[in-house]
Amino acid sequence: MRKTLTYGTYDVLHRGHINLLKRAKERGDYLIVGISTDEFNAIKGKKSYYDYETRKEMLEAIKYVDEVIPECEWDQKPGDIAKYGADEVVMGSDWAGNEKFEALREYCDVYYLPRTEGISSTQIKSELHLMDDKAGV
Ligand code: CTP
Repeated sequence: MRKTLTYGTYDVLHRGHINLLKRAKERGDYLIVGISTDEFNAIKGKKSYYDYETRKEMLEAIKYVDEVIPECEWDQKPGDIAKYGADEVVMGSDWAGNEKFEALREYCDVYYLPRTEGISSTQIKSELHLMDDKAGV
């Protein structure tokens, strides 16, 4: 069984996420998604709309996702690769060449998938704010 591991926050789930997860799953037999905990997001200076448990439940409902694990710190990836027996780490192309992922080639394959154009969690959140402004809310 070929196991694939990917990481992200996956806040305000959107079609870019689904596209990524579908193609990541197609690269193997079993897809594990490491999602940033709320505490780890705070360390990164980010705050998600949905909390960790909600993001985890939503991802677990997606047919391409076999398992969701917490990402609590930058340096846990080699340990995850060993613990879960991952053959490959897959990320969107916004991470292509990033030192944090390139360093994992020592432990498994690393592959970047083209990012879906024109959508992100940040964009959705800011456009919803603009809609509020227009509606006078
Ligand atoms: N992703 C993608 N296409 C997009 C948005 C995200 O392929 N349009 C991928 C990312 O490359 C990553 C995964 O989805 O591998 C999770 O990304 P995440 O950072 O959680 O999503 P974003 O929408 O980019 O969130 P943000 O705006 O907060 O950066």
